[in-house]
Amino acid sequence: MSKLWTGRFTKETNELVEKLTASISFDQKLANEDIEGSLAHVQMLAECAIITNEEGEQLKEGLLKVKEKLAAGELSYDVSDEDIHMNIERLLTEEIGPVGGKVHTGRSRNDQVATDMHLYLKNRTKEIIELVASVQGAIVEQAEANVETMIPGYTHLQRAQPVSFGHHLLAYFWMLERDKQRLEDSLKRVDMLPLGAGALAGTTFPIDRKRTAELLGFEDVYPNSMDAVSDRDFILEFLSDASILMMHISRLSEEMVIWSSQEFNFIELDDSFCTGSSIMPQKKNPDVPELLRAKTGRVYGNLMSLLTVLKGLPLAYNKDMQEDKEGMFDTVETLEGSLKMLAPLIETMTVNDTAMKQAVSEDYSNATDIADYLVNKGMPFREAHEVIGQIVLYAIDNEKYLLDLSLDEYKKFSTYFEDDIYTVLAPESVVNERNSYGGTSPKQVREQLKLAKQSLDA
Ligand code: ARG
Repeated sequence: MSKLWTGRFTKETNELVEKLTASISFDQKLANEDIEGSLAHVQMLAECAIITNEEGEQLKEGLLKVKEKLAAGELSYDVSDEDIHMNIERLLTEEIGPVGGKVHTGRSRNDQVATDMHLYLKNRTKEIIELVASVQGAIVEQAEANVETMIPGYTHLQRAQPVSFGHHLLAYFWMLERDKQRLEDSLKRVDMLPLGAGALAGTTFPIDRKRTAELLGFEDVYPNSMDAVSDRDFILEFLSDASILMMHISRLSEEMVIWSSQEFNFIELDDSFCTGSSIMPQKKNPDVPELLRAKTGRVYGNLMSLLTVLKGLPLAYNKDMQEDKEGMFDTVETLEGSLKMLAPLIETMTVNDTAMKQAVSEDYSNATDIADYLVNKGMPFREAHEVIGQIVLYAIDNEKYLLDLSLDEYKKFSTYFEDDIYTVLAPESVVNERNSYGGTSPKQVREQLKLAKQSLDA
């Protein structure tokens, strides 16, 4: 089959070159976007009298036929046509004859491919935002059921202060909220049409770029044709947002792995989301959160790859840019798969509130509260910190927790201590008393839940 650009060549393309330069094996994912872009382009060409209305109609019908036949699996791609753009032009021409070649009037593959990528990312970003919201929904549900469930709160993975488990979960809600905002914001830059930039310098035909933008539902067009064909910032931005989002998914996944270990025993993941061992019959492994954690690596990798591909490229289009696709597709698919998995994983996990309660009763995480107690009685915080440090040391030496010490023992450290110290030290009051805005008291967590639901409904 002869290529669409053989005119100035005297030799056949080397087979290995064909293999290296062809992108059809992966950019066929853009078939629908490519046809959508062409449909708008030919309509604009006809409206601007660059092609006749009749030609416009023929092209449109032909494109729709090709789309239909592709979906039905009746047509196949040819690697000698290199990429999705030339494959579709070829299929179109086979469908309607030489007039098919008019589809490329006033256009280049350079503005065409950029347009396809914009269309693709615009749709997929919206889908991903929806999926993030569904994970947020699952978090809200679990948080709501666990406002009063206490869990040790950690810093340095050392017990710090007990918190509401709902509060802990909602921290992830807000991370995901920012992820959604970032993705939504990135849409502003995706919502720009490169088509009409031609190869790099614009075109001699009297095209109407704003009309094409309107037909394709784009907010605006790139004001500079060279920027239009060489910009891949919008993909980088998506990959960056995706990386941050995956990092959040990974952190939550890591917590699920830890919490479901026998050592913690805070949650149990549903059987339908776990796997067994081929040798150890007792094993129930958290493969799902482990893989979500691991998949973060490829998403970061895709970002690094594209940053590296683009660095140092002179204006305008360079073939290097063809390498923008696989990482983007992979990131979209990885994110969609991970988010779809995460929502039910959260929904179906069982919370072992007894083990959590036991954990918060068997540690020294109420020490700050004794310090605050002494401060309320008039002692400077720094001094109180020192006194409590000694009490904790004394308790550890005597194999007791702070609630087990007698009032006499407390009085040895400070005469400020009274009987009310025991109410202060109960895990419930430790959590309840952290009632500052955004704090972990059930009252605050309920307020936070209201905010979270409002954001979800908005
Ligand atoms: N397959 C190419 C890509 O994805 C399309 C643009 C090719 N343009 C060119 N002048 N070779 O980047």
